[in-house]
Amino acid sequence: TAKYPCNVVIFGGNGDLAIRKLLPALYNLDRAGYLCENTRVIGASRTDLGRDGYIDLVKQGMDEFIDRDEWDEAVWDRFAARLSYVAVNAREPETFQLLADELDKDFSCQDTVYYLSTAPDFFGEISRHLNATGLVNDHSRVVLEKPIGKSLESSKVINDAVSEVFAEDNIYRIDHYLGKETVQNLLAVRFANALFEPVWTNAHIDNVQITVAETVGVEGRWGYYDDSGALRDMIQNHLLQLLCLVAMGVPVSLDTDAVRAEKIKVLKSLKKMDIEQVRRNTVRAQYAAGTIGGQQVPGYQEEEGGKPNSQTETFVAIRADIHNWRWRGVPFYLRTGKRLPSRYSEIVIQFKDVPHSIFPHGSNLSGNKLVIRLQPEESIQLFMMNKLPGLGEGMQMTPVTLNLTMPDHIADVRVPEAYERLILDVIRGNSTLFVHRDEVEAAWVWADAILDGWRQSTVAPHAYPSGSWGPQAAFELVARDGRSWHESS
Ligand code: BG6
Repeated sequence: TAKYPCNVVIFGGNGDLAIRKLLPALYNLDRAGYLCENTRVIGASRTDLGRDGYIDLVKQGMDEFIDRDEWDEAVWDRFAARLSYVAVNAREPETFQLLADELDKDFSCQDTVYYLSTAPDFFGEISRHLNATGLVNDHSRVVLEKPIGKSLESSKVINDAVSEVFAEDNIYRIDHYLGKETVQNLLAVRFANALFEPVWTNAHIDNVQITVAETVGVEGRWGYYDDSGALRDMIQNHLLQLLCLVAMGVPVSLDTDAVRAEKIKVLKSLKKMDIEQVRRNTVRAQYAAGTIGGQQVPGYQEEEGGKPNSQTETFVAIRADIHNWRWRGVPFYLRTGKRLPSRYSEIVIQFKDVPHSIFPHGSNLSGNKLVIRLQPEESIQLFMMNKLPGLGEGMQMTPVTLNLTMPDHIADVRVPEAYERLILDVIRGNSTLFVHRDEVEAAWVWADAILDGWRQSTVAPHAYPSGSWGPQAAFELVARDGRSWHESS
């Protein structure tokens, strides 16, 4: 296992994401032997926790978020020895000296990764103060968590400020969906098999559906979420990145620049909607009280920290259109929401019906479907037509699935968490699975048009009971085109 000497500093080091995802990911990288002997992990945030207090906090997180069968006391001891903590305030530049002193204690790692797991408003200031304190060199990398801004304009302000300090090659904009195993498998399915590419066009594909359904509500993040909403929180980044991987042309190689170039072409071909198209092609809704898994749950506005009369959407369904040669006329239906009946993420490629059926009327023919499931379990299935066995008159068809899911002997290999892969990629200096500034901006151009349309219409979001599949309008959006959402369990 090659190891890359590198320190990791996490701003917002005591925050929810750091405790829940980033530190457990680093622990697992240590367990798998990917962290260099000298690598140190430094938490930074405003609160004065002290090193011991921080280690206690991290340990509590480990107890909650690491599976018991992945727990190894000896690895934890080694990991805890790497940990330290500094109380740094982005609004008080002099406090960055504490971080400099901490990093100064050991020169064996020249490279430093600064992971900014804070509100995006701080990205510029933190970068500036790091630089002013002499903590940035050509090898320093910065990781930016989404959301990058709330609009094209605000994202530019943030990107400009960070770019004054870090070169684009050293800026890693994270979208954790790109680190999910099946998302990468999508590239393998598309480009390691000659079978699919020739039919991956509007000549053979009828529509594409991308669903990211969650059962959770806003989970104590009402303040952040209310300012954001599902379009900014999920669609502008995660779902559009999935759309890019489905829709992009064949990159010349797996190199960062080659893949990005193809993704950017897709984002730039997304049809920007005018107000009338926003009205027609988007549905926004907010969850009301209801039942999830037999449990009564409150409505969005009654959640902890919630306020009445919020118009923020927790559910979005959109018909997106890509205006290019390959995809003209193929709708991409995107759907995401909180408090839906089950948690799953899935991409469905619906192929066209056979051009002419030779089978008797009523034999139950339907078009092939490739269903790529990202979570909770990972699978790839191709739905095909087969004859129903028997001596009955005529021919009755039935769908059967061709399962591309990993055979058990391979599936036994532990699937790494998205954050493990992505943090390791930053440590290795590989930015293929990260988002370029041009992608962020092209995605905002499209998302801003929708947000503008919503702002200008006086229509409130639909309400949907928690535990339902969203408002009726989301079904009508697809039914209007003579189609329906793929029903998954
Ligand atoms: C985050 C969003 O980016 O993704 C959250 O801010 C959402 O609102 C989460 O719950 C979903 O991630 P995952 O990996 O659980 O599907």
